[in-house]
Amino acid sequence: MDLKVNGKTHALRDDQAAPDMPLLWALRDVLQLTGTKFGCGIGACGACTVHVDGQAVRSCVMPLSAVQGREVRTIEGLASPAGLHALQTAWVAQQVPQCGYCQSGMLMAAADLLARHPQPTDAQIDEAIANLCRCGTYPRVRAAIHAAARAQGAAAVPAPQVLR
Ligand code: FES
Ligand code: FES
Repeated sequence: MDLKVNGKTHALRDDQAAPDMPLLWALRDVLQLTGTKFGCGIGACGACTVHVDGQAVRSCVMPLSAVQGREVRTIEGLASPAGLHALQTAWVAQQVPQCGYCQSGMLMAAADLLARHPQPTDAQIDEAIANLCRCGTYPRVRAAIHAAARAQGAAAVPAPQVLR
């Protein structure tokens, strides 16, 4: 079965991956993309969050059969050749992580949020970021999302025209 991750298509052998294997297992154990974390395994904590066709999903409860022909993006693919995602820059600036275990899932959930709501409200952040963080980084997560939104908004403003 084929699995397209971060723009690259991987052909998984039958002895590596069955259709009912959770996407998280294939990412970590077959493709060695270990940035995506295992937390609860029941879709509750968000540590395993990745994007499928641009939408944040919990990969521990998504079977490989459900992502056939679809685009998966993991934390390893969040940055682009042009540089870090605005969220990653903000995460560093705000020193968001503590132990770091939940953070890749947080970032992927936040990236989905910003794609849908470029200037999210606190309520929209709270609704979208239902990920669990044992270290309690929630205030810094929220501050970093706002900072990334401001940075993206500033980058999107066209430069003033010089009148001659
Ligand atoms: S490991 Fe997937 S939601 Fe917790
Ligand atoms: S930073 Fe430690 S669990 Fe979130």
